[in-house]
Amino acid sequence: MIGRDLLGIEDLDREEIERILHTAERMSEIGEREVKKVPTLRGRTIVNLFFEPSTRTRASFEIAGKRLSADVVNFSPSSSSLKKAESILDTARTLDAMEPDAVVVRHGTAGVPRRIADVLAAPVINAGDGAHEHPTQALLDMLTVLQEKGRLDGLTVTIVGDILHSRVARSNIYGFLKMGAEVRIAGPPPMIPQSVEALGVKAYTSLREALEGADVVMALRIQNERLGGTYFPSTREYSATFGIDRATLRFAKDDAIVMHPGPINRGVELSHDVADHRPSVILDQVRNGVAIRMAVLYLFAGRPNVASREVS
Ligand code: CP
Repeated sequence: MIGRDLLGIEDLDREEIERILHTAERMSEIGEREVKKVPTLRGRTIVNLFFEPSTRTRASFEIAGKRLSADVVNFSPSSSSLKKAESILDTARTLDAMEPDAVVVRHGTAGVPRRIADVLAAPVINAGDGAHEHPTQALLDMLTVLQEKGRLDGLTVTIVGDILHSRVARSNIYGFLKMGAEVRIAGPPPMIPQSVEALGVKAYTSLREALEGADVVMALRIQNERLGGTYFPSTREYSATFGIDRATLRFAKDDAIVMHPGPINRGVELSHDVADHRPSVILDQVRNGVAIRMAVLYLFAGRPNVASREVS
């Protein structure tokens, strides 16, 4: 039974993840039609509430809503009453009073979508909050791996880079572990959270060891906007130690795929040729982002009777 809000993969069980992935597989077919639109969410309203920059997530939620015939409203903080010192919660309550069927929230601070969910009647979907979670990214990543490998159970997934600041890493760790994969992480020691192995992953500081036998290599973005200290001596050294190129990729399985949530720091996390050619599946991830967000909007905003929440 899927809950009211989608705030993190941590909150989902395996059955719920499978339900979203299977729904997304059906939604993918709509994107292949000449007329990419179905009436499923006609009369429903989705509000995109993005307090932090985004290309992929925001555009794909908008496209997903429109493909399902929902009305999609993109809230822009820079031209809103936030500029007149209205609080985020008052902004959210104000939009909620207009009776949307779902509110999609991205914010640079962990926990903001949950705080908004606590005061809204509409379902809240987390589109990325600080270093906490990015659930729809992990779902689209799992869908991409499922399409490539035919299964998630028993695969070895190596996540490389800035684990400490990465909501993508956290959501993928929860997701792939729940689906039966082995998850390894690798990166400069200051970017590996101390308690991460308690989640059930194995941490490596040697890229070669982390990649040996991997089915999936997921490089993460170096999040310069979140780096408050010195985590590695230089970008050049990071690239030499943890960058993925054709040579380092040889340590993984012959049929390993390469993923990246984007945006990419080219030549740092991935070499240009790895980023742009197979076994990179980066643009498949982006394409699957629309199908996953269609599935999420259908499952969370499309319910016939959304019971009223006790609003504090
Ligand atoms: N992967 C991801 O969340 O990208 P955007 O910041 O462009 O949405």
